[in-house]
Amino acid sequence: MHILERWEARRTERWFSDTPIEEEKIKILCNIIPCIPAQQGEADHFWFCISRKEIRLRTFISVNVFQNNNEDGNFGFGSVYSAPFMFLSCDNQASSCNNACLNIGLHTGVLLSVALELGLDVATIGCTAGFNTDKVSEFNTLIRQCRSIPGAKELYPVTAVCVGYKDRKYANRNYIQIHGKYVATQLSKPYRRKPNNFIGK
Ligand SMILES: Cc1cc2nc3c(=O)[nH]c(=O)nc-3n(C[C@H](O)[C@H](O)[C@H](O)COP(=O)(O)O)c2cc1C
Repeated sequence: MHILERWEARRTERWFSDTPIEEEKIKILCNIIPCIPAQQGEADHFWFCISRKEIRLRTFISVNVFQNNNEDGNFGFGSVYSAPFMFLSCDNQASSCNNACLNIGLHTGVLLSVALELGLDVATIGCTAGFNTDKVSEFNTLIRQCRSIPGAKELYPVTAVCVGYKDRKYANRNYIQIHGKYVATQLSKPYRRKPNNFIGK
């Protein structure tokens, strides 16, 4: 399929099937990350490639990191639970307006584009409203147990680029319950889709 058609058909998938991703596709996505440009050429943030098989880490991220702090309780995201692989970006400052965030946005876009070109389905999740400050050190301890990370600065998750093959079985339901938690599974409604912001040539 032509890349424009892939983008036109793209949705933020809310649930992924168990179909495994070809190893070669994951390698390409991993190898592209160091080639993406960054302001002043600085590696001011980190990316992690996390399989669903890393159960402890993925469960922590699903239950504690990407959470919508809703009045009715915390809502998690089906994309984060179900994606066979997640590319997780982390900043080392709690502030959301810095060069690292600009660079993370660019990297997120490149990962989406390459994943689409590889025939994968995607979801970008960035809501960490329910990631309480008391969870930051727990997250940092866990991620340092799972990966060797340079420096000692505390890391704050920013975006999760979820990749896999879509499964729309829950697409018409607001949420499902997993381990007593609400998990959003509904595709964005047309009115929540981004309006055309291209001004013209
Ligand atoms: C940077 C970024 C962060 C996002 N974070 C979330 C999120 O935390 N939760 C969520 O449900 N959707 C999230 N989305 C998905 C948007 O809600 C979605 O792209 C939008 O509603 C349009 O739907 P579509 O992608 O299916 O066209 C995010 C999208 C982007 C680009």
